[in-house]
Amino acid sequence: MASFSLALATLFLATLMVLRPSLAAAATCTSQTFTNNKLYSFCNDLPALNSYLHWTYDPAQSTLSIAFIAPPAKPNGWISWAINPTATGMVGSQALIAFKDSKGSMTVKTYNVSSYGPVTDSKVWYEVKESSAEFSGGVMRLFANIVLPEKLKSTVNHVWQVGPSVTGGVPDKHEFQPGNLNSKGSLDLLRGQSTGGSGGDSRTKKRNIHGILNVVSWGLLFPIGIIIARYLRVFPSADPLWFYLHVSCQISAYAIGVAGWGTGLKLGSQSKGVQYSLHRNIGIALFSLATAQIFALFLRPKKEHKYRFYWNIYHHGIGYAILVLGIINVFKGLDILNPESKWRHAYIIVIAVLGGVALLLEALTWMVVLRRKKSSTSTKPYCGFNNGI
Ligand SMILES: *[C@@H]1O[C@H](CO)[C@@H](O)[C@H](O)[C@H]1NC(C)=O
Repeated sequence: MASFSLALATLFLATLMVLRPSLAAAATCTSQTFTNNKLYSFCNDLPALNSYLHWTYDPAQSTLSIAFIAPPAKPNGWISWAINPTATGMVGSQALIAFKDSKGSMTVKTYNVSSYGPVTDSKVWYEVKESSAEFSGGVMRLFANIVLPEKLKSTVNHVWQVGPSVTGGVPDKHEFQPGNLNSKGSLDLLRGQSTGGSGGDSRTKKRNIHGILNVVSWGLLFPIGIIIARYLRVFPSADPLWFYLHVSCQISAYAIGVAGWGTGLKLGSQSKGVQYSLHRNIGIALFSLATAQIFALFLRPKKEHKYRFYWNIYHHGIGYAILVLGIINVFKGLDILNPESKWRHAYIIVIAVLGGVALLLEALTWMVVLRRKKSSTSTKPYCGFNNGI
C-alpha cells in the first residue's frame, strides 16, 4: 500500500509540475535548422497555416533577415510573407512571394498588394537586398534580406499566406478558410513576440496537451500499474485488491494514452514536411501493444489452466515492452517539444524515484518470498510472484 500512495504522490507532483503554464512557451521553430546553416536571433511558430518565421533584425542598419517556412496549399502553389506598414490585413501589404517559375526553379518576387484583385510584381516599401527560396519535403522556405525604411518602430504588422497555384507566373488567389483569414499579427522585431489573429498559438497548446496526456499515461501510469502488479500481490492481504488496482490503473492509462495517441496522430497529419518518424512509430507500436494487453485481460485463462503459463509470458513480455518503449518515447517527445530543461529534469527525477521504489520493493519481495519458503517447507511451496494469481 505504501508503494501505491508513494506512487500516487509522485504522480500528483509530476502532474502539477507538468501543468505549470510556463511549458506553453515551448516552440517548434527552435528545433528547425537550415541547410545553409543560417542562424536567426528569433523564431515564432505562427498561429495559422502551419508556418514559421525566423528573423534577425539590426535596428542600427534597419536590416531584417528572415526565413519564412510554410507548406504551400498545393505542391505547385506559393507561400508569402508580408509587412503591412499601413494596416493590419492583406490590403496594403508589402509581400514577398515564393513559387516555382516556368522553368521549374524556385523564385521570390515582391508585390505591393493594393487590392483583392490579381497581383503584379512591383517595387515595395522596403528594399530587397537578397532573396531565395527552396522547396523540399512539401515545405517551401523563403529567405530574404531586406532594408526597412528608416524611423521604423520595432513592432510591425505582418501577414502571411499560402496559395494553391501559379498561372503564367502570377500567384493565384488563396482560399478563404479560417487559417487563411487569421494569418496576420503584429511582430516585435526586437523582443521576438508575436500576437496572432486567432488568439494565441493553438498549435503549441495542442502539442503541450499531447505531451501531458502521454507523459501521464505511458510515462507514469503504466509504470505505476506494473509496480502495483509486481510487488503488491506478494502480500496475501492485498489479494485481490492489487488486481483491481492494477486493472484500473492500466485501464485509465490506456484511456488517457489513447487520447494522447489521437492528439499525436492529429498533430502528425497537420505538420506537413516536418516528420518525427521514430516518435510516431514508437507511438503506434505502444498503442498496438497496449491494445493487445486489453485483449489479454479478456483472454486470461484460469489460474490452474495449462495455458496460463504462456499467457503470463505474453502478458508480462508485452507489459515490460510498454514500460521501456513508453519511457523512451516520452524522451523522444521531450526532444521534439523541447521545453525548458527543468521539465526533462522533473521527469527524470520522477522516473528515478519510481525506479528506486521498484528496486526497494524488489529486494523486500525477495526477502519475504525466501523467508516464506524457509518457514513453509512442509506445506505447499509458494508459487512465486512471477506466476500470477
Ligand atoms: C503601392 O500601391 C499603392 C496604391 O496603388 C500606392 O499608393 C503606393 O505608393 C504603392 N507603394 C509602393 C511602395 O510602390
